[in-house]
This record gives sequence, C-alpha cells and structure tokens, in this order.
Amino acid sequence: MKSSAIAHSNIALIKYWGRSSELNIPMNDSISMTKQGLGDIELKAHTTIFFSKDYVKDVAFLNKKSLVDRNKERVLAVVNPLREMAGINHKFMMASTNDFPTQSGLASSAAGFAALAIATSDALGLKLSKDDVSKYARLGSGSAARSVHGGFVHWHQGVDHETSYAEQLCGPTDFQMNAVIALVSDEPKTTTSDSGHTLAATSPLNNAQIKKSQEHVVELKKAILDDDFKTVGSIAEENCKLMHAVMETSKPPLYYRNQDTFKIMKKVEKARSRGLECYYTIDAGPNVHVLTRPENVEEVEKMLKGKTIRVKPAGDSGTTEEHLF
Ligand code: PMV
Repeated sequence: MKSSAIAHSNIALIKYWGRSSELNIPMNDSISMTKQGLGDIELKAHTTIFFSKDYVKDVAFLNKKSLVDRNKERVLAVVNPLREMAGINHKFMMASTNDFPTQSGLASSAAGFAALAIATSDALGLKLSKDDVSKYARLGSGSAARSVHGGFVHWHQGVDHETSYAEQLCGPTDFQMNAVIALVSDEPKTTTSDSGHTLAATSPLNNAQIKKSQEHVVELKKAILDDDFKTVGSIAEENCKLMHAVMETSKPPLYYRNQDTFKIMKKVEKARSRGLECYYTIDAGPNVHVLTRPENVEEVEKMLKGKTIRVKPAGDSGTTEEHLF
C-alpha cells in the first residue's frame, strides 16, 4: 500500500477565484495550462504515501518539514475520503518534495495535491479515472484538480463534489504555447489564496467577473482548439485583470501585484505594440507569466531581462516507481 506520483503545476488562463463551499466548488469554470520548466527548475511535485497497520498516527512532510494545522488538514481532506472509499483504516506516512523557488507563488500546492491524490488512490488500490482523481485533488487545493492532467485543462464548476471535476481539453503538443515567468519578487505573500478565496464575495465586482469568466471559458476553449493564439492571449490577459480587480476591491483588499508587476505588464503591452506577440497573466502573487508562441520565447526573455523561468505545456502527471522513502 505504497505509491508515488509526480505532477506539475499549472497556470490559469481563466481564473478560479472565490468558492461556494469548503469542498472548493468554484464560482465559475476555469481553464489552465499544466506547465513544466525547461531549465533546472521543472516546477513539479513528487509525493510518496504509505499506508501501514504499524503506524499509530497520520504524518505528512513537505520538503522534509512536518506538516501541522491547516496544512495537515488539507492533506487529510484529500486522503480521508479516499481511505474511506477503500474501506481501509490504516494510518499513513506521506512525504512530498518540490523544486519550486521558495514561496514564489507559482502554484506549488496545485502540483502537490495533484500528486497526493494520484499516489493515494493508487496506494489504496482504487481504480479511479483521472477525471475522478481530480475531484479529490480539488479537496486539497481547487487548482490542483487541473494539475491531474497534462496539456490544457478545463475544470467544470459543477454543483457538488461529484460534478466538479477537471478534464483534459487537449494534449501538450496540440496547442503551441509557452510561457516565460518573470520572477519579480520572492517575498512571502501575506494572504494565501486558500484564505483569499473567502474574500471574493465582498467585492462589488465579483458577480460581473463570474459572469464574464463563464463567457471567457467558452471563447477560450474554442480559441485553443482553433489554434488561435492571439485570442487565447487576449482573453487570458483580460480575465487576469478582472480577477485582480476583484481582489483589489474586496474588503479588506488583496494586493498581489506590486510595482514590479505593473512594470512588467507595461513592458509586455509595449512589446506587443511593437509587434512581438505576447500577453501576460498573473495568479495570486507578484510574478508574471508571459504567454507566447514557442518561436518567440527567446525574444520575450530578452525583452523581460531579469530572472525568468521558461515553461512549456507539461505531459500527464502519474505514478512513478521512485519512492521518497
Ligand atoms: O487553488 P488555490 O486555492 O491555490 O487557488 C488558485 C487561485 C489562482 O491561482 C489565483 C487562480 C487559479 O485558477 O489558479
């Protein structure tokens, strides 16, 4: 009853912000690209879980540190329902490592909980489809539902646990898009996305953002399948601005973007007006993902200067024979 899995992080093109329940049921559908770093940093999580009758309590480690409180609760939110489904009472030991720059806000939790859900269902001998596994990854972190799949992924909002799941829209090579991440800051963020979601409803712009995002999902899905990069980039950029408007007008306001973020946004807009096809998107942190066609990656890096990570669409996440303990 031991299994290990590897999963990659993802960048949301249509954002998930705000949820209607503790089960992380979102307020709208979302779409993302599962991403893999092209250099030394792969942006992946590697997780091993072992259920044994010899263990007396559940223990979990992330990068060798023991998880407690909310962080441990989130692990249990994924493992408990699967353990119950399998009808097994054994306690577990879990270890997870990742290669994300420390507290960079690059969605390490998405990769971590996706790897956890895959390894757990495999260790317990559950024969679940990837779409079904995504429901359990969602219980740890909403965006983790999307990291269960590689390539481009659609998370259906749904109305309850059974209907809120992620499915692959197309594989990693079906739509030619890369991203260059501009690492503008490594300061820890003051409000995690986990607690930020609860503030979305306090913004007067929230309903407009939800409505527009549902329209964006339909348009973006079509644009990906039509290989229409320009439309994908423009919609992703607009959707990102709407989400940050909600964050910045919630009570209290959440400012994830800083001055350096705005400098990069302007640089991207300027480069685009000069004819370099690129668009930005920003999750719950100051770093900027600049979306571009693979052939323009080098030019985008030159334009951005500073610290960057080059990413391409990642393949499927899955189990591995390499165990961490
Ligand atoms: O899955 P969470 O709770 O870390 O929330 C992710 C929120 C955003 O990254 C801002 C948007 C998204 O859809 O990934």
